[in-house]
Amino acid sequence: MARPLLQVALDNKSLEEAIDTLGNGLGETVDIIECGTYLIMMEGIRAIRLIRRMYPHKMMVADFKLILPQFGSAVLAEGAELNTINSTCLDITVQKIHDEAVSRGQKVEIEFYGDAWSFEKLEQWKAMGIEHVIYTRPRVLGGDWGEKDVKLVKRICDMGLKVTVAGGISYKTLDVLAGLPIFALICGRSLYNAESPAAEARRMIDRIKEIWGE
Ligand code: 5RP
Ligand code: MG
Repeated sequence: MARPLLQVALDNKSLEEAIDTLGNGLGETVDIIECGTYLIMMEGIRAIRLIRRMYPHKMMVADFKLILPQFGSAVLAEGAELNTINSTCLDITVQKIHDEAVSRGQKVEIEFYGDAWSFEKLEQWKAMGIEHVIYTRPRVLGGDWGEKDVKLVKRICDMGLKVTVAGGISYKTLDVLAGLPIFALICGRSLYNAESPAAEARRMIDRIKEIWGE
């Protein structure tokens, strides 16, 4: 089983802060760089463009949480390989954004918003060509990752979907998720608030390799 990739979510308040977060080695250490929703809200979608230019060799996610097709075209034009769609989105919109992404050689991932998803919905999305979802524990729910999440994530992986996980993930969450065939682990606060984001990312990747293998 391939190890999960480590994705930093740049939910910073400004581009200056995001660039500082990525500097000193974090950008080179993580596997995927996410231009976070908060950063896009503060700086606009040019944040995606600038980070794309700074790290052309890295896989990149634009986390705009798309819900409208016309927003999709503008975000896709910034060139991130992976682009998030909110799970509350209309099916017709999912299809339009997905089709446009595929025609441009890009991909989408549907991020669950609370309980706005179901196994039946996952089957429908799969039939529409969706291959990748994000299982997110909303921060408003409080609590921590546990057995209920592990069972749900495993069932989604067993459907043959790529699954990325998000929501308050830190070093200690790795043991809870151990062994699940996850595509990527998203870390926002646990990396950008760390004293040394790069050192914390290295510590996490070392532990990921211990648990899942190289
Ligand atoms: C939530 C997000 C965040 O980027 C994601 O949850 C990672 O941030 P954190 O680790 O701080 O929860 O998109 O929808
Ligand atoms: Mg995000």
